[in-house]
Amino acid sequence: MTAASLPAGEIPALREKLLAWYDAHRRDLPWRAPPDTEPDPYRVWLSEVMLQQTRVETVKPYFHRWLERFPTLQALADAPLDDVLKAWEGLGYYSRARNFHRAVREVAEHHDGRVPGDPAAFRALPGVGRYTAGAVMSIAFGREEALVDGNVRRVFARWTDDPAPAEPALWSLAEALAPGARPGDVNQGVMELGATVCIPRTPLCGDCPVRAHCRAFQRGTQAERPAPRKARPTPHEDTAVAVIERDGLLLLVRRPLDARLGGMWAFPAEVRRPAESVAAGAERAARDGLELEVCAGAPIGTVQHAFTHVRASYHAVRCTLLSGEPRPLRYDAWAWASPADLDSYALPVAQRRIAGLTAGSHRDTEAQR
Ligand code: ADE
Repeated sequence: MTAASLPAGEIPALREKLLAWYDAHRRDLPWRAPPDTEPDPYRVWLSEVMLQQTRVETVKPYFHRWLERFPTLQALADAPLDDVLKAWEGLGYYSRARNFHRAVREVAEHHDGRVPGDPAAFRALPGVGRYTAGAVMSIAFGREEALVDGNVRRVFARWTDDPAPAEPALWSLAEALAPGARPGDVNQGVMELGATVCIPRTPLCGDCPVRAHCRAFQRGTQAERPAPRKARPTPHEDTAVAVIERDGLLLLVRRPLDARLGGMWAFPAEVRRPAESVAAGAERAARDGLELEVCAGAPIGTVQHAFTHVRASYHAVRCTLLSGEPRPLRYDAWAWASPADLDSYALPVAQRRIAGLTAGSHRDTEAQR
């Protein structure tokens, strides 16, 4: 037996126990079709995209709102990207929404509006990686396709008592599990076990239907499997944000599609240069991004946000427009938005908080007058 594998002879029993447990204990989640009913591939696909990097409880309200707004694949394909990103606002990792939208448009155009049930055709769509393909093909179409995500990795590391299972070994174990009855439920069973029983640090082995197959349980190493990965220090970025106001309206820009937070609306901003003041950074953001001369005034506040690979501090400063009409040199579009209109723009969480601080500091300034 190599690392992160199980003897082939154990697989049928493992599958069977897992399926029986899944039938009895599966959570009733809004994207799961009731037993013995056909799943809707669009809903399954949507849920799997939303669940990447995001907890089930966070996803639930988004999933419901999304289906009210875009009840069918065609409705989503017909919608402008702005509306799609607005519906995704707050979930983060906006490239998921952009890619999903592009992929759905491709399905509408080239696949007759039906999600392809062929793994190669599905995998060729934008944003569809190995995990998403395995999940949608197995859950929505009953294809014997494998998947590995973070929960699966932990479960497999324990079954095989491997502190640091390599990707190829994880996928080959997943591929060994896929063939047979109900591959989608087997995949969901492993993920469900990881989410509810085989949890990090303190697994509930007493409740585990497959502990007889678990090498870590047998050896008492389950709490240490998998071994924590060495966290790389995340770089920090200091950004100056220009909140430019004219006649009670705020200037928003839409970020280019290939940038971080692409397609989302934001206040003009630039990463600060060494020794550059926030005021100078904000004035530079207006000049280089929009060909606008502004004068930076009172600070509004600082908002922190942790992205996957960078921790950002946004220092917002109120700016007065001196001259010029906006020209979106570094942006896709711009708009003067009234405070009441701000809600209709797709703003990332940190930008929404800056908008909140702006409204608050505006009230304070008015009150002092
Ligand atoms: N995590 C991501 N997708 C899941 C699913 N379909 N079931 C359980 N956990 C999941």
